[in-house]
Amino acid sequence: EKGGYPDFMMKEIHEQPRVIRDTLAGRLVDGHLAIDELDLSAEELNLIDRVYVIACGTSYHAGLIAKNLVEGWARIPCEVEVASEFRYRNPIITPSTLVVAVSQSGETADTLAAIRDARVKGAKVFGITNVVGSPVARESDGVIYTKANKEIAVASTKSFLGQVVSLTLLALLLAQSNSKLTTNQVRLLFGELADTAEQVEDILSDTAAIDEAALACKDAASALFIGRGMGAAVSREGALKLKEISYLHAEAYPAGEMKHGPIALLDEGFPVIAIATQSPVYDKLVSNLQESKARGAMVVAVATEGDEDIRQHADHVIYIPKVRDALSAITASVPLQLFARAIAVARGCDVDQPRNLAKSVTVE
Ligand code: F6R
Repeated sequence: EKGGYPDFMMKEIHEQPRVIRDTLAGRLVDGHLAIDELDLSAEELNLIDRVYVIACGTSYHAGLIAKNLVEGWARIPCEVEVASEFRYRNPIITPSTLVVAVSQSGETADTLAAIRDARVKGAKVFGITNVVGSPVARESDGVIYTKANKEIAVASTKSFLGQVVSLTLLALLLAQSNSKLTTNQVRLLFGELADTAEQVEDILSDTAAIDEAALACKDAASALFIGRGMGAAVSREGALKLKEISYLHAEAYPAGEMKHGPIALLDEGFPVIAIATQSPVYDKLVSNLQESKARGAMVVAVATEGDEDIRQHADHVIYIPKVRDALSAITASVPLQLFARAIAVARGCDVDQPRNLAKSVTVE
């Protein structure tokens, strides 16, 4: 049932192009986004003036990515919060607040509690989940299904990608509803979003550079993931994936924060994994790589195909196809999943069943 793959995680990583295609199928009709199951009119959507994304773990990281899109495209303030924090404070919620609850399993205790709390306070709640009829689906006002199909490996990969794609659709819908994006812009962005399926296939077809970088890092005691903008969010997920399946300690920092603390960690051979794809902050990121190299760090850079300059600043370069920055989390996350898995395998870990973790967290 692993379909010829060595483990479920690998199988599920390879299903991601299909997840992207299925999540997008039928969603653009005559230039307009069709997400009818949300059951909110364009006028109602237009009134939304604040968005909270609430989730746990990997799903929370999908939310961090979405913040950039909701604010960048729809120009609506968007906060992303872990559900266990959200539920125990008193967040500012009005009837024009949209709460988006993201949960692969659809039954995470803290996320459910946050949904209930938000609804009592009068917010509209959209659920994004992978499980049809799950509590998150039932208790939300509207739901988008991620079409990942059952995910067996405890560490989430294809569900995460389905969440990012679904949240991207939601951001486009909000921007179309409040006219911050034109129909033509939405059509163009949707087309590029659909193209990421092929780009992910491309990444999966040649993993030699990823495997090589993983072998170089596998015996480290700790690793630092850095990025800026979209890359900062992607780096959070990269670090989580690595620590949960390989037990190699990893943390993620926005690259601009390096000199405010984490740079003290760097010495000869310390792995720094950087999201260095083309973006408005590319040059700033490169200067962080220079600082890292100057202290002897071993830099692994995820970079855009054709970027030869990056080789001067990195020991290992993992090239991925060129996409616009807003969509780069989809492509840049995939090599980090493979990187984490390769390290876990090299360290002899059970990648599908990491210790101390459960696939579904139904108790607080
Ligand atoms: C990590 C992972 C977890 C879950 C988290 C939330 O790979 O899978 O961090 O993302 O437990 O679970 P859901 O999305 O089911 O609410």
